[in-house]
Amino acid sequence: MIGLQNIKPFNKRVLIRVDFNVPLDKNKKITDITRIQAALPTIQKIITGGGIAVLISHLGRPKTKEKNLSLKPIAKKLSELLNQKVFFSKDCVGNKVLSKIKKLNSGELILLENLRYYKEEEQGDVGFSEKLSKLADIYINDAFGTAHRAHASTSIITRFFKKNCFCGLLLEKEISNLNLILKNPKRPFTAIIGGAKISGKIEIILSLLEKVDKIIIGGGMAYTFIKAMGGNVGKSIVEEDKLILAQKIIEGAKEKNVELILPIDSINSLSFSNEEKSSSSDIYKIPEDKMGLDIGKDSILLFEKHILKSKTILWNGPMGVFEFSNFCNGTKSIGKAICVSTLNGAFSLIGGGDSIAASKLFGLSEEVSYMSTGGGAMLEYIEGKELPAIKALS
Ligand code: 3PG
Ligand code: MG
Repeated sequence: MIGLQNIKPFNKRVLIRVDFNVPLDKNKKITDITRIQAALPTIQKIITGGGIAVLISHLGRPKTKEKNLSLKPIAKKLSELLNQKVFFSKDCVGNKVLSKIKKLNSGELILLENLRYYKEEEQGDVGFSEKLSKLADIYINDAFGTAHRAHASTSIITRFFKKNCFCGLLLEKEISNLNLILKNPKRPFTAIIGGAKISGKIEIILSLLEKVDKIIIGGGMAYTFIKAMGGNVGKSIVEEDKLILAQKIIEGAKEKNVELILPIDSINSLSFSNEEKSSSSDIYKIPEDKMGLDIGKDSILLFEKHILKSKTILWNGPMGVFEFSNFCNGTKSIGKAICVSTLNGAFSLIGGGDSIAASKLFGLSEEVSYMSTGGGAMLEYIEGKELPAIKALS
């Protein structure tokens, strides 16, 4: 992959695929700008070098041209961050947008509307890729979060730029930090996996068994493991069809000499709400009418002990319903323990939307070694899969 140091952008039109798939609230307000900030170095490099930056991204998963998934509010935010006008185009392809781009001067930039308003984007349509390629002389991919998608703008498009395809600064940084974890990690290497469900994380857990010394499991998915071990988890979230798989993971860990660490106690509630009175219990003995929404104090102590002994830490997924103030203690405490371990010299990497949101909420994001902008992309990279967008650049 060729990096940006080889680019001469002056007076060139540069198409930059970014991942501006940021969370929005119902008033279209952006609730987290991490991904926009992460793309700034590449954008700045191009415009300060006298290039004309044409930014393209998707937002959400629109079925039609849903207004609430327009990228327009992002142009505004970007313009605040860069302290510069950001032009906007309602079209991603065609003569209208091309003539708009051609009117831009050296050092100016434009953001195009949501790529997924065109069904051809997700279909990886060759014709659509070709139309996008007509907009610029040079292509840069800086959308690590979307690198696991073989879409028109992330993967198919490179064939139309031949040698003029470059790897953006963020994409480069993500790969080098993830490689620190994958190639020769300092040991013990501990992965902390949480979140509501095992379903989306089976492959990553199985592949981590080959790489780590310890796996800590927390969050909603822990209850499936506890039930698989014969525990009573009351009304807690359980994926019945994953019980056998959970058992296999437990056995696999034993075979591979990986220490699998499950919570030992649970903070429970009568319903999925922050208003109900909470109580704690042994995680294997949750009352029939209650559901576990966070890990308990003893689990925190147990997890902390392992985290503080670790030299490499990977964290994906919260330990409980951290959005509820009564059930955020597990996630907050584990986040803090990771920060302390980092101060003591461990390399810590956090990825996935929820873990990042939690770290920011609790003010921990500055203290970890690296925060990845990728969710699915990060997990697939760690699994050892070849990401289509990265492959297309090489
Ligand atoms: C993400 O947020 O994981 C990326 O932007 C990719 O989005 P997608 O999962 O809708 O393809
Ligand atoms: Mg996703």
